[in-house]
Amino acid sequence: MTDRKLTGLDKILTQLDQGLRTAFSSAPLPERKSPADTIADTNLNDKDRAHTIGLMRVNHTGEVCAQALYQGQALTAKLPEVRDQMKHSAAEEIDHLAWCEERIKKLGGQTSLLNPIWYAMSFSLGAGAGLINDKLSLGFVAATEDQVSAHLSKHLSDLPKEDLKSRAIVEEMLVDERRHAQAARDAGGYEFPSPVKKLMTLASSAMTLSSYRL
Ligand SMILES: [Fe+2]
Ligand SMILES: [Fe+2]
Repeated sequence: MTDRKLTGLDKILTQLDQGLRTAFSSAPLPERKSPADTIADTNLNDKDRAHTIGLMRVNHTGEVCAQALYQGQALTAKLPEVRDQMKHSAAEEIDHLAWCEERIKKLGGQTSLLNPIWYAMSFSLGAGAGLINDKLSLGFVAATEDQVSAHLSKHLSDLPKEDLKSRAIVEEMLVDERRHAQAARDAGGYEFPSPVKKLMTLASSAMTLSSYRL
């Protein structure tokens, strides 16, 4: 195959293709095995199973948003170093997406019907911030990763104690997300002011409430 420079239209079509795959179809194969793979399954009662599916569906939607955010940022980042620095975090998000989806399906649930909406919103925010400047877009990534980490910490207290598989996934994701937030700050991301962070918390609460049910 011959190498050629991607035009603006090529880039947009590539992003559109990735977006449709992320929002509507199964996650790509993860690079790392799921932390749940080595843990024996436990029988959950119907109530606990339904609750776990809801929580893991929220986490899965969070990962759809993360895909969208990193893809939006990659499209509009001005400095190639910024794209490269974020590549590792973006690759780990694919693992998270696949682990959550696998766990939801194993429990007999389905991913959120609202994922395309959340994908579109996160992509626009990521790309829009990148159009302004890289430091703003990196700051947005850092603040988002902080929000995700807060959710995951809460889910660790909410998940049934017996569900060691889901807990192992969430614990591993939490370690990764904290590192992603730090990577974005180290790459030069702005520290967002508290009112902006509060607005982001409101938006993520809307995502949590809706994805838990739908
Ligand atoms: Fe993630
Ligand atoms: Fe992350």
